[in-house]
Amino acid sequence: MERTLVFVKPDGVQRRLIGRIVARFEDKGLRIVGMKMMRVDAALAERHYAEHKGKPFYAGLLKFVTAGPIVAMVLEGNDVVRIARQMLGKTFGLEAEPGTIRGDFGAARTYNLVHGSDSPESARREIALYFRPEEILDYARSGDEWNFDAAKE
Ligand code: RTP
Ligand code: MG
Repeated sequence: MERTLVFVKPDGVQRRLIGRIVARFEDKGLRIVGMKMMRVDAALAERHYAEHKGKPFYAGLLKFVTAGPIVAMVLEGNDVVRIARQMLGKTFGLEAEPGTIRGDFGAARTYNLVHGSDSPESARREIALYFRPEEILDYARSGDEWNFDAAKE
């Protein structure tokens, strides 16, 4: 089954939104197979956001993601990369649709509460940056036969 990396960014932690953001993914039926609170140091931030190096917002982005703890998660499910991105909404809270996490909780640009991998390849790269293999748990969750499409298991 597909996996993705999602994290509650420092603004989400500071604004006491961890529980409400995590609840969105649980409500959707996605399986949390890894989860931890951690700091992103400068080296990790640079590796994660290497694609944005040189862009005008890069310095501000690094300062933002290293400003305080985050809560990182590995989520699992069919098409989970696409589903999680849809749940996040457009990048800027001021443009994100109501009903999405960014649309419901934020109105800023850089401070957009949550990260989600943008493709299965990015997800594999990012999961390896944030989680050691033994921190990701394979387990059966009671009731999952009703969450995941049997035809795609
Ligand atoms: P993310 O990678 O964090 O999930 O966000 P994303 O794919 O929706 O957006 P991306 O283009 O990858 O940008 C990464 C993060 O940089 C900050 N940003 N600020 N002020 C600005 O113009 C600007 N542009 C991007 C946001 O925090 C964005 O999530
Ligand atoms: Mg991105």
